[in-house]
Amino acid sequence: MTSTPQPTSSGSPVNQLFGTPDLPQPVLGVTGRPLPDLPEPEPLTSHGPARVIAMCNQKGGVGKTTTTINLGAALAELGRRVLLVDFDPQGSLSVGLGVPPQEMELSVYNLLMERDVELTDVVVPTDVPGLDLVPSNIDLSAAEVQLVNEVAREQTLARVLRPALAEYDLVLIDCQPSLGLLTINALTAADGVVVPLECEYFALRGVALLKDTIDKVGERLNPRLRIDGLLGTMYDGRTLHSREVLQTLVDGWGDAVFHTVIRRTVKFSDSTVAGEPILSYASDSAGAQAYRQLAKEVLARCRAA
Ligand SMILES: Nc1ncnc2c1ncn2[C@@H]1O[C@H](COP(=O)(O)OP(=O)(O)O)[C@@H](O)[C@H]1O
Ligand SMILES: [Mg+2]
Repeated sequence: MTSTPQPTSSGSPVNQLFGTPDLPQPVLGVTGRPLPDLPEPEPLTSHGPARVIAMCNQKGGVGKTTTTINLGAALAELGRRVLLVDFDPQGSLSVGLGVPPQEMELSVYNLLMERDVELTDVVVPTDVPGLDLVPSNIDLSAAEVQLVNEVAREQTLARVLRPALAEYDLVLIDCQPSLGLLTINALTAADGVVVPLECEYFALRGVALLKDTIDKVGERLNPRLRIDGLLGTMYDGRTLHSREVLQTLVDGWGDAVFHTVIRRTVKFSDSTVAGEPILSYASDSAGAQAYRQLAKEVLARCRAA
């Protein structure tokens, strides 16, 4: 004899079969997955060794520099000592932090190419406490050519950044939009890669090539390297298009995609003009809050690494 499920306090028979709706349902984030309960990062009493993260995507204009500045500022706000490395000859990271190219005595170029220049000679403090910068300018474009003749040319950045590892908790490298020798240097110096992707139709083109490059560097030069996460940027939830791109990203990459998504807002360009992170320029804005959330997610992933 088959018994018919009887209604109980936990709901109808159907609910008994398919789970109880009385339990609190997980809150779904913008990426369509339940939001994780991220721990509050603990205050630090000492600093280092640093985790080195390369901000990498061979496409330009996807939010690498914006993410480097604001993730850096958010991590510094959490009491982390953070070193940002401008590794793009365009020098946008330096400009975005109020360090104009003409006022630079020494840049990352000198650090890479001149043996008597040390990291401390090149590092400049920013207006954000705990956030330092290795600036860059157009000189760096010459390094790409000159490095070709160096011994261990792919390891040059890793070698010159080594003294930073004991001083800082995180080192973020803002890569140029290419997969050339400078970017290979950044990947060789890094523990993790964060890939910012604009939530636009063509964003996913090129990600396979980037993954291939990361895998090759991992196999041949730097076995520590892993992908820390893919970050959706310039998201506009009002457009089906943006939502579809994000969904495709999650379908293909699963939990590698950060739960935090950065929405499109003009405040980012405004803060660049002001030469400061959005975290200080518009501290309560949604953009600032998103990067604070990203900082917590990155720290949680670093701990799990
Ligand atoms: N979430 C965002 N919403 C709107 N504009 C953004 C956002 N993120 C970055 N931008 C703007 O887009 C442009 C390109 O961003 P940037 O961070 O310089 O990209 P990349 O370093 O990948 O070339 C900049 O003008 C920046 O201010
Ligand atoms: Mg950039």
